[in-house]
Amino acid sequence: MLFLLILFLGGPAVLTSGRVWPLYGTPRKTVTLSSYGGHVFQEEGVWNYSTMLLREDMDVLILGARETIFALDLNNITNKKAMVKWEVIPDTQEICSLKGKTKETECQNYIRILHKMSDGRMYVCGTNAFNPTCDYMSYTHGNLSLESKHLEGKGKCPFDPFQRSTSEFVDGELYSATTLNFLGSEPVMMRSLNDSIRTEFSRSWLSEPSFIGMKHVAEGQKNPEGDDDKIYLFFSEAGLEYDSYKKMDVSRVARVCKGDLGGQRTLQKKWTSFLKARLDCPVSQTKLPFLIQDVFLYCPGDWSTCVFYGVFTPQTDMLQYSAVCTYRIQDIRDVFSKSKFKAMDSSSSRWVTYNGDVPEPRPGACINNNARQKKFFKSLDLPDKTLQFVKDKLLMDQAVEPSSKEPLLVKKGAAFTSIVVASTTALDGSIHQVMFIGTASGSVLKAVNYDEETVITEEVQLFAHSVPVKILRLSTTMGQLYAGSDVAAVQMPLSSCDHYTSCMDCVLARDPFCGWDLISNSCVAINSIQPDTHSEVVQSLRDGKASRCPAVESSTTIKFFYPGNMVSLLCEPGSNLAQVQWHVNGHPVENSNVYQIQHNTLLILKASDSDTGHYNCTSVETIKGVDYMTQSATYELRLGDFMTDPSVQPLVQEHQNTLLALKVLVIILTLMLLALVAWNFYKGYFAIPKCFNSDEESQQKTSGCQKPLQTGGRNSAASKACSSNSNNNHNRLSGNQHNGDQVF
Ligand SMILES: *[C@@H]1O[C@H](CO)[C@@H](O)[C@H](O)[C@H]1NC(C)=O
Ligand SMILES: *[C@@H]1O[C@H](CO)[C@@H](O)[C@H](O)[C@H]1NC(C)=O
Ligand SMILES: *[C@@H]1O[C@H](CO)[C@@H](O)[C@H](O)[C@H]1NC(C)=O
Ligand SMILES: *[C@@H]1O[C@H](CO)[C@@H](O)[C@H](O)[C@H]1NC(C)=O
Repeated sequence: MLFLLILFLGGPAVLTSGRVWPLYGTPRKTVTLSSYGGHVFQEEGVWNYSTMLLREDMDVLILGARETIFALDLNNITNKKAMVKWEVIPDTQEICSLKGKTKETECQNYIRILHKMSDGRMYVCGTNAFNPTCDYMSYTHGNLSLESKHLEGKGKCPFDPFQRSTSEFVDGELYSATTLNFLGSEPVMMRSLNDSIRTEFSRSWLSEPSFIGMKHVAEGQKNPEGDDDKIYLFFSEAGLEYDSYKKMDVSRVARVCKGDLGGQRTLQKKWTSFLKARLDCPVSQTKLPFLIQDVFLYCPGDWSTCVFYGVFTPQTDMLQYSAVCTYRIQDIRDVFSKSKFKAMDSSSSRWVTYNGDVPEPRPGACINNNARQKKFFKSLDLPDKTLQFVKDKLLMDQAVEPSSKEPLLVKKGAAFTSIVVASTTALDGSIHQVMFIGTASGSVLKAVNYDEETVITEEVQLFAHSVPVKILRLSTTMGQLYAGSDVAAVQMPLSSCDHYTSCMDCVLARDPFCGWDLISNSCVAINSIQPDTHSEVVQSLRDGKASRCPAVESSTTIKFFYPGNMVSLLCEPGSNLAQVQWHVNGHPVENSNVYQIQHNTLLILKASDSDTGHYNCTSVETIKGVDYMTQSATYELRLGDFMTDPSVQPLVQEHQNTLLALKVLVIILTLMLLALVAWNFYKGYFAIPKCFNSDEESQQKTSGCQKPLQTGGRNSAASKACSSNSNNNHNRLSGNQHNGDQVF
């Protein structure tokens, strides 16, 4: 009971006079995949659809699952063009199960690597019953075929299908980060196929890592200093630089130079350019660092404009926050090229800032014009001093901070699992980045940042709530998003403007893809507007200003009732951010022993003669301090004479049952309220209109005061959120179910 109460008090909604203030962390709309125009692909008996390769050149999505690879039509993934089975041979499976692994699950072939090669074929690897194996694959004349080459997969693909790994294919070479052995205890980042280079097996290089993502940044072609292309690796690992009594994980970014060939004597066949830094995504009120779960590289122009978008989750399950942080490529570069190094102090065995001499050329730097001038043309020419240094001092002292120093979005609820970012041009020509964030509860959130706030325009439910999104891929040419999970793969368009049915709804959505056409009276895709047609389109992204929209019309419904019955009047809020307000004969309706205001209904518990009259419901959405009425419904309630209106009679029994259930509910709620009041008196919280600012999670919960943490916006709603904590608990019990974070 007490636990529940704490949850109530800790909830993010702040209420004044019966209104729940909208939260930026709440998706404005919750929609289904089918209403968004999505498609589902699922093959009987096949699971784990978690590897994808977009082949826009051949109009297919290559989808890797357990023991099977599919080629699906990019326009409609329901349409399977080809498939090929890649099953484990019985002998391999037998060995796997003799080694103690489960035959039906672990000793199967999970496709984990799919890359396009320059000749148009594909490079495929699978776990192959703890015996990772790779192969070439082609898609020709509508046929998907494997060449059965049985290429070595160790160090490319994990043994264990549950272990995370990542890879990238660049200029005929495979870069991979995974584990090298059956036990999964020997982590490696390596380049293979032509000449193999790898990390040193040492805890200072990689310490129980979980590999998340790898991205190639083609810096070489346009770098004024003649610098090389980079391969960036994102992962989390045990943070050895922290002296904590128990293991603490940190997020990292590491990078290597594409032209690295290893050292001549020191670091032979090992990276000479492997440097790593801590990657921060600071979410206030948490002590343990958040851990990266997926990364997306967004480059609007050449390499210097690139930004990495990362999704982060806490390392303990207790906190239900997830965050998105962005990192500018230049900031990451600066850390690797300018920061001091960390070194292990041998006397104390602690990692400390290294303040001694740093050899020239700088350890870990790529070969650039400066190095070439000094006659270092490749990594094999580098002096031993430089290589000895980087062999044990490869951690940067400085951490990589997110752009603008804080997360772009923080949200409570199901953990974020994946992210892709699309950009689109709005009506006024401004360009916006739209984030699509996959969650552990099978949905994708569509979010846009407008200066100081990030709004989540909608949440599209792709899979069942128990099925996490495992992979997201974006096709900008198709304008489609592809997502995979253990049970199915789906496709959805980046926008679906026609599911906004009114001008208010369309404009308040603040979806950069959509605008309301006042002439055709429909919500249209901005990129479909012909420049020379007579259209008059409304879009207001930063302000959500819907004043050009015509006022909503209200129609009156006449309803009869029979005294003693319960009457329910329907009123849909229109969005998760809207507030429903009821008036009876012009007076506002409050929750009482007569009226029960629910999410989308008003209940008159035991209607009597005096309850006749006009009932008006309005649904109001507030954006930037302006109230917009998005819906309105009016009921005229008349006393029914069941002699003349027989439709009233059969309802009596049903209503009495509902009434009984409702009575029980009211008793429960009253008991909870009493306990809450008692507890508050006991704790002395009543009549202390004060806001705690402590970092302590426990105080945070009991104070009812919310730092900007929950709201997703930067610095948004902080003062608003802290202003009225004494109202909080009372209203949490009043049956409003507006935000997804509710305990009920
Ligand atoms: C594959 O999918 C099944 C069925 O949903 C699931 O139980 C299993 O954990 C998945 N395996 C992996 C390696 O993800
Ligand atoms: C997608 O493909 C399936 C199977 O080929 C077909 O039944 C369905 O009508 C298609 N849907 C659309 C919108 O094209
Ligand atoms: C596709 O492969 C099947 C089986 O390998 C073969 O019978 C068929 O002729 C191939 N089709 C084409 C168009 O190559
Ligand atoms: C493979 O390596 C050799 C020399 O080590 C190099 O000449 C060749 O270009 C490389 N091939 C690819 C595809 O990178």
